[in-house]
Amino acid sequence: MNYQSSIAPVAERLKGKFLLSNTFRILKNPVTFLGELPRCYGPVVHFTLGVKSYFVLQHPDYIKNVLLDNHKAYSKPGATKILRLFLGEGLSTSNGELWLRQRRIMQPAFHKQRIALVLRIINEEITKLTDRLQSFATGSTINLSHEFLQLTIAIISRAMFSTALKKEMDSMIHALETLANYASKWMKSPVKIPANWRIPSNNDFRKNCKIFDDIIYSMIEKRKIYRSDLLLSPHDDLLDMLLDYTGENIEDGMTEKQLRDEVTTMFMAGHETTAQTLSWIFYHLAKDKSIYTKVKEESNNILNNRLPELDDLPHLAYTKQVVQEGLRLYPPIWALVRKPYHDENINGIEIPRSSYALINIYGIHHHPRFWEHPDDFEPNHFTVEKEQSRHPFTFLPFGGGPRLCLGSNFAMMVMQVTVCRLIKQFEFAIAEDYQPEIEINITLRAKNGIQLIKK
Ligand code: HEM
Repeated sequence: MNYQSSIAPVAERLKGKFLLSNTFRILKNPVTFLGELPRCYGPVVHFTLGVKSYFVLQHPDYIKNVLLDNHKAYSKPGATKILRLFLGEGLSTSNGELWLRQRRIMQPAFHKQRIALVLRIINEEITKLTDRLQSFATGSTINLSHEFLQLTIAIISRAMFSTALKKEMDSMIHALETLANYASKWMKSPVKIPANWRIPSNNDFRKNCKIFDDIIYSMIEKRKIYRSDLLLSPHDDLLDMLLDYTGENIEDGMTEKQLRDEVTTMFMAGHETTAQTLSWIFYHLAKDKSIYTKVKEESNNILNNRLPELDDLPHLAYTKQVVQEGLRLYPPIWALVRKPYHDENINGIEIPRSSYALINIYGIHHHPRFWEHPDDFEPNHFTVEKEQSRHPFTFLPFGGGPRLCLGSNFAMMVMQVTVCRLIKQFEFAIAEDYQPEIEINITLRAKNGIQLIKK
């Protein structure tokens, strides 16, 4: 396919007589809106939301320009302002020199060989999950999203910080959920009430920030005490790496607050995204018997009765395709926002400094031009041949360019291993009238979680 030929050097304006009706439509259901855009418009669409002007990019060449070729010309802007209240200046919300320094410090923790070491932890936590699932009676309805949240938080805390946080798990899940709901309501609301006003939702937000902070600071404190005993061997995990760089002031390394921001970011970035994708995948495995059977056969053939090891992962190719298809159909991060530092021009289209570039991940993942069955769960979208012939920026669940998700390999491994292990032991069914509804929180998720019946 010749992508260049489709590039039109004009940004189409969003049609619609009434500015307000567009605004309400977008805020009410941004994902439906973003999904419809590529079917009605060309590669770049322009619209305003309140006083803000957005250029929606839905062509891989334009997206590549902003995320990779010309990435230095853009920052991650105020869409993350509300998240900053909770995440501070962690890796996903920071910019410029601070971002670069932090990325360099943390990157080694995510190298492939290092991640390989955490496969044991992943397997142990999945065993705990299978034990929990066994305890449900046949025919009972299970909220799989909740189960996967527990799984992913436990894996991240053990893999990154060598602590199981068992006692704290429930309050952590509750605090993270409340914080995400708060941020999501704030983003969707046309009227932004300042976060420092003493109203109930702001008070609740502060209370839950404090609950979460107390858990994080106590985890850091315990580690500092441990490290002060020179006879004990180091954990050699992400927390140790961050503490090696922590000093009294920023010149010496990271401040205590920066350390807290990074640890918080890691929990926030890694748990829900992975848990939600797994939930949607199991919904489709329950829905489509032929896909279920194919994954199960692969898992039985490759693993027989043992636990997955690192060398097995490339052979679990169809399972990987299933995971990729889950990420395509339900990208947890459904759009990215960037702001140019100066007036920019992409292939003749002006992106003024005062405006925002909105990368329509959901739209491009559902674009009929790039996917044979854009709205169906079809793992064959990811055969080797199809992958090779596709523009890399048509599938970007983990973003792209230098700010590519730091945890992408880690998340892929967690999902692949979870799918191939659970499928060997469990089969789920869908209640007759059950139709999960997409909800936009910070991430794309299923409203009330994915509820399936244990067979
Ligand atoms: C299915 C799972 C996941 C998805 C779909 C996902 C998606 C993304 C996306 C789209 C970005 C780029 C944001 C942007 O460019 O504005 C990102 C960044 C990031 N992700 Fe993930 N993520 C996942 C899992 C994880 C996990 C497991 C971790 C860590 C344990 C993690 C840590 C991060 C961090 C630290 C960043 C910021 C990177 C930077 O700005 O340098 N993510 N993620």
